[in-house]
Amino acid sequence: MESKEFGLLFVQKMLNLEHLHYGLHSKGEKLNFDNFKNAQQKYSNFLISHIEKAIKKNKKASILDVGCGFGSNLKILKNKNYNIQGLVPSKAMAQHSKKVSGAKVYCDMFENFDARKKYDLVFFSESYQYVDIDQSFKQLEKILKKDGKIVICDFFVRDNSKGLSKIGGGHKMGLFYEKLKNTNYKIHTEIDITENIISNIDFMNEVINDRVISPAKLLDEYMMKKQPLSYKIFKFAFKNRLNKIAHKSDKDRNGKNFGKDKVYKLIVLK
Ligand SMILES: C[S@@+](CC[C@H](N)C(=O)[O-])C[C@H]1O[C@@H](n2cnc3c(N)ncnc32)[C@H](O)[C@@H]1O
Repeated sequence: MESKEFGLLFVQKMLNLEHLHYGLHSKGEKLNFDNFKNAQQKYSNFLISHIEKAIKKNKKASILDVGCGFGSNLKILKNKNYNIQGLVPSKAMAQHSKKVSGAKVYCDMFENFDARKKYDLVFFSESYQYVDIDQSFKQLEKILKKDGKIVICDFFVRDNSKGLSKIGGGHKMGLFYEKLKNTNYKIHTEIDITENIISNIDFMNEVINDRVISPAKLLDEYMMKKQPLSYKIFKFAFKNRLNKIAHKSDKDRNGKNFGKDKVYKLIVLK
């Protein structure tokens, strides 16, 4: 299992989440344990309203959810009687999303996906950042019908980013526009939702500090007293993983810096 996938599964299990994407909130609203799931639902509603608009609510239109996670968007679209399929590289996620949605789910990376049919719309819900940008357009041209549509809801790296937020992920925004020029697709809708996403970073910090770092510090003190030698060996062996977790609690990893480095957009291509 890749470390990014481990991170997603860890957060999903810890917070008992259905969705694996950020939550959409009003500008300036703070997210907490009480309103986070609601904000995630708002994100899905927003994304799905644009999907429906792009296919003009045609229930026969064939849709593919790339990087479907635990199948939360698949489930909503299937319940609305849309002709939807999912794709995800993780076996555990593929099995789970199939079970919760009743939709056909392929277990593969998008770059390697050998589609058995052509789709009217392909969408990425916070999963575009994981796919290779060149391969993505080649694949999209192969698997979409002639007048097919693409919906991407994800964050990108601002071209003037200084890496302040210390949060990884996202393709360079300018690179995306450059690559897009070499395709047959044009931007139909582009909405900047960065201001409605940034509280997620502060909330995630709270989760990591309160639910991971604080108990880990307590355990650390206890083990240092009880088993100093074997515990030091354990810490040395897992040095890299432990450093990664410590990095996630860095004070510069906050919503304000995220907004300086990243831009979160909903993009519809036709
Ligand atoms: C942040 S999660 C989003 C999950 C889901 N779309 C949602 O909105 O809840 C990113 C998803 O992308 C998937 N993913 C990562 N690399 C991928 C790839 N190369 N091809 C397809 N999916 C990928 C992950 O397994 C994960 O399910």
